[in-house]
Amino acid sequence: MSPSPNLNQDSPGRATPLSPTQVADLQQRAVAAAHHAYAPYSEFRVGAALLLTDGNIITGCNVENASYRLTVCAEQAAIATAVSLHGPKIRIRAIAVANLNDTASQPCGACRQTIHEFSTPDTIVYFPAEGGTVAESTIADLLPAAFLLKDS
Ligand code: THU
Repeated sequence: MSPSPNLNQDSPGRATPLSPTQVADLQQRAVAAAHHAYAPYSEFRVGAALLLTDGNIITGCNVENASYRLTVCAEQAAIATAVSLHGPKIRIRAIAVANLNDTASQPCGACRQTIHEFSTPDTIVYFPAEGGTVAESTIADLLPAAFLLKDS
């Protein structure tokens, strides 16, 4: 997939904040991905859009299963797709998460650990907050004590 022309690639991987236009673009892509969700059990349709440090954008949605624990979250689907398309060295500059239920919702713990695996010290997470607003946090703040198997 080609990088979005709306997204600034001057400083990939740096802590440069995304512009409001970039955030809106990423958020809109997350919403679009949520429309693809398979969520017949929870009816909670989630989409995620990753901006990689190289400028590529990858999306994913939640995919549920009758055996509930086999459900794949949107963030994890997006990350698996990003690795499949771009390889194991991908790093996430920012991730936007959206749902179609107008519900304030932060990434679950498992997704935080999955985001952390491919994060930089400055990876930003955008998620739905109260009143239809979008909140942001760093993955370090969302998961201050991530599990590590080795120093990386
Ligand atoms: N879900 C996500 O896709 N991401 C999260 O971070 C939390 C939950 C999905 C899983 C399930 O399909 C539905 O939301 C309800 O939990």
